[in-house]
Amino acid sequence: MIRVAVTGACGKMGILLIDNILSANDLELVAAFDIVNIGDDVGDVNRFEHLDILISDPADMVSVIENTNTDVVIDFTIAAASAENIIKVAKAGANLVVGTTGFTEDQITMIHRTIKDKKISAIISPNFAVGVNVFWKLLEEAAGYLGDFDIEIIEAHHNQKKDAPSGTAVKAAEVINKVVGGRDLIYGRQGLSPRGDEIGIHAIRGGDVVGDHTVLFFGDGERVEIRHQAHSRQAFAGGAINTLRWLMSQPPGIYSMADFLNL
Ligand SMILES: NC(=O)c1ccc[n+]([C@@H]2O[C@H](COP(=O)([O-])OP(=O)(O)OC[C@H]3O[C@@H](n4cnc5c(N)ncnc54)[C@H](O)[C@@H]3O)[C@@H](O)[C@H]2O)c1
Repeated sequence: MIRVAVTGACGKMGILLIDNILSANDLELVAAFDIVNIGDDVGDVNRFEHLDILISDPADMVSVIENTNTDVVIDFTIAAASAENIIKVAKAGANLVVGTTGFTEDQITMIHRTIKDKKISAIISPNFAVGVNVFWKLLEEAAGYLGDFDIEIIEAHHNQKKDAPSGTAVKAAEVINKVVGGRDLIYGRQGLSPRGDEIGIHAIRGGDVVGDHTVLFFGDGERVEIRHQAHSRQAFAGGAINTLRWLMSQPPGIYSMADFLNL
């Protein structure tokens, strides 16, 4: 049995991940963390059956992980909280699956240093959906052929999403830029804004959209669109759970979904 803890246990992704863990034969939920409902049973507050697992304060993360012999922690929270959680998980010696998005460059540097110093295994991905990882691969290939086209990225998410643009859109721009060279990234346009050698990125927010990403390559008299649409958060949760299983047999290091999928 793989002993799993979930941070952000009362969030949209946290609840779904717990549901996936509870229905898996090889996984056992041993701890849950959130900044809300601390001290309540995680099953009761999230309307599962009573689980006899109380929601712990993230401040106690190191001792809870050690006392529960947690093998791996899944973190889907917010960037500032996740950066702190990662330090605690690494200190306690558990492995990590990180889906949180919106990290700053400084946070990413610190996270990588901590994981390497503590010699744990971690998989970090701004998107755990298999299709999105193939979408990034397709973008890389398209950019190789269409590098002189105008390139724009449009992403849509539900009205509760905190960070913009999405981690998936940021990674799409990075993937393309690696192929076409360092184009400027322009986030939306207003007023006089003639198009230069750039990639435009546009975030729209509303309703319950799980996550849409479209990349447009515009040439003279034509355009190519590459699109991914997530219909359900299960695409992310299922991917995270499958990579978690794979991670347990990997040597210490930092991995991506591309490593897991052999892309
Ligand atoms: N990688 C992916 O595939 C993927 C998919 C969906 C969402 N996300 C990202 O995952 C994150 C969470 O998304 P969500 O839709 O579940 O958000 P959410 O707002 O529904 O849930 C976040 C939860 O984290 C909790 N939290 C805040 N600070 C905390 C801390 N210090 N310790 C523990 N818990 C804490 C909040 O109380 C909340 O319950 C976001 O960054 C989102 O962009 C990634």
